[in-house]
Amino acid sequence: MQMGKLLGFLLLFSSLCIGFVSADWNILNQKRKNGVGSSLKNYCESWRINVELNNIRGFEVVPEECVEYIKKYMTSSQYKADSERAIEEVILYLSHCCTMKGDGKDAWIFDVDDTLLSTVPYYKKHGFGGRKLNTTSMEAWMGESKAPALEHSFKLFHEIKDRGLKIFLISSRKETLRSPTVDNLIKAGYHGWTSLVLRGLEDEFMEVQTYKSKARQHLTNQGYRIWGIIGDQWSSFEGPSSVKRTFKLPNSIYYLA
Ligand SMILES: *[C@@H]1O[C@H](CO)[C@@H](O)[C@H](O)[C@H]1NC(C)=O
Repeated sequence: MQMGKLLGFLLLFSSLCIGFVSADWNILNQKRKNGVGSSLKNYCESWRINVELNNIRGFEVVPEECVEYIKKYMTSSQYKADSERAIEEVILYLSHCCTMKGDGKDAWIFDVDDTLLSTVPYYKKHGFGGRKLNTTSMEAWMGESKAPALEHSFKLFHEIKDRGLKIFLISSRKETLRSPTVDNLIKAGYHGWTSLVLRGLEDEFMEVQTYKSKARQHLTNQGYRIWGIIGDQWSSFEGPSSVKRTFKLPNSIYYLA
């Protein structure tokens, strides 16, 4: 009896020890194997998600140690999946949101860059957000009209047009880029929008957010009912306006205030 108890106790004790030891050993092992890598990945992922949540605002460059990570994300199937999910939510919303009057005043707003067209090819060649934006070279690139369409948004654009909504493109691009921007959009397969709003000289002194909310106000004054906006920047949604819903697409390369 006593021997049995003792044996049982010993067995229990040793298995606990093994438990502790092996648990300890696992943690140490993991740390040694992935420690630095995984904590940098965690750091960059939390930086990225907080950009999307609009907790991190107004950054001029992606933190140096995260440039590779952001590049990986923005060229990954995860970026595509995240964007497609946003589009699916728009389509779901459209299926029940709106009682359209069919009087030509139902409207939808799109951003242009990194919503309809991708600037990723530019950033691939220019440091992927790790360097301060060089407006001269960015505008020269925009002038070449070769930004590709974002597939998911392309589908949505046509879906919204087919539903009979008027499409307004409100972009922070300059008015001087109108002709290459129109060329680019058409080349990428977009057509049939009602108006492309670009930043005139006087708008360049305003924050993007103010400029965009003024443009929306202008539409509302004209009697348009804005059922939604889809954009990749928080500045596309903020400020006073009577928009039913907003949908944010991922973009962790740059921030337009
Ligand atoms: C910005 O780009 C232009 C055109 O590519 C170039 O001439 C200029 O040196 C660049 N400026 C900076 C600060 O890198």
